[in-house]
Amino acid sequence: MMRVSNPYLDANTIPIDRPDSIEYAALVSRMRSELAADGCAVVQSILTPEGVTALVTEADAVAPHAHRSSSRTNAYFSQDDEALPKGHPVRRFYDRSIAFVAADRLVAGGPLRGIYDTVGFDGFIRDCLQADPFHRYADPLADVIINSAGAGPGFPWHFDTNDYTVTLAIQVAEQGGEFEYAPNVRTADDEHFDAVTHVLDGTSDRVRTLILQPGDLQIFLGRHSLHRVTPLGGTRPRYVGIFSYVDQPDMVATPERCRQLYGKVMPIHYERAGRRGDVLLD
Ligand SMILES: [Fe+2]
Repeated sequence: MMRVSNPYLDANTIPIDRPDSIEYAALVSRMRSELAADGCAVVQSILTPEGVTALVTEADAVAPHAHRSSSRTNAYFSQDDEALPKGHPVRRFYDRSIAFVAADRLVAGGPLRGIYDTVGFDGFIRDCLQADPFHRYADPLADVIINSAGAGPGFPWHFDTNDYTVTLAIQVAEQGGEFEYAPNVRTADDEHFDAVTHVLDGTSDRVRTLILQPGDLQIFLGRHSLHRVTPLGGTRPRYVGIFSYVDQPDMVATPERCRQLYGKVMPIHYERAGRRGDVLLD
């Protein structure tokens, strides 16, 4: 169900209803510049006040259905390597507890899926990323989801395994929950473990802090930029919507990945298992 315009989106801040306009071109140009500079670009306040209210109401309603998983992970989501000295970034493990509301809880016509389905939204993201090929994730559990986080350790330092992440801040925590990132701290051919160590030690001068507000749309290139969500406090949960796009049209997650993230698997995951690589949300 595609929506031509959406009263929850602010056409002044995200003019996707006018893709031929000067304003649209200027916004895309700014986003491309920011992505090129440090891998992070934000459109502030894309939601109307009614949109924020609707998305928070929806998130509150579905959050009890979030699937929680806990683990201890390093920044690389890899195994420990005892051959390396103690204190090496590969050997530093942090507690992680994440909860996702699966996509099948976010109904067609609902607030968050309605934004994903608005005509021009996908195209705007593609224009910012200059991604080609570019498809929506075909996974019925993962195309658009909500990350819900209460008081706790946040999401510790890591590099992403996917090229980019598209998120929409829905509600912020009372304390903490800032997004911190060290742009391009590693490259495709050099892990730069020394620089990573400085970030993990809290002694790096390369860390930037982003305090996203409800309605802020973020595109982040996380493969080479170490990043985290700082520990959270207070009773109000932090909600973030995540929109997923991939470079292959029929791609879905593996059954193992679905079970880990959402606590369930659908027939399509078994049918397509082994046909192609996984998409990781972290
Ligand atoms: Fe990440």
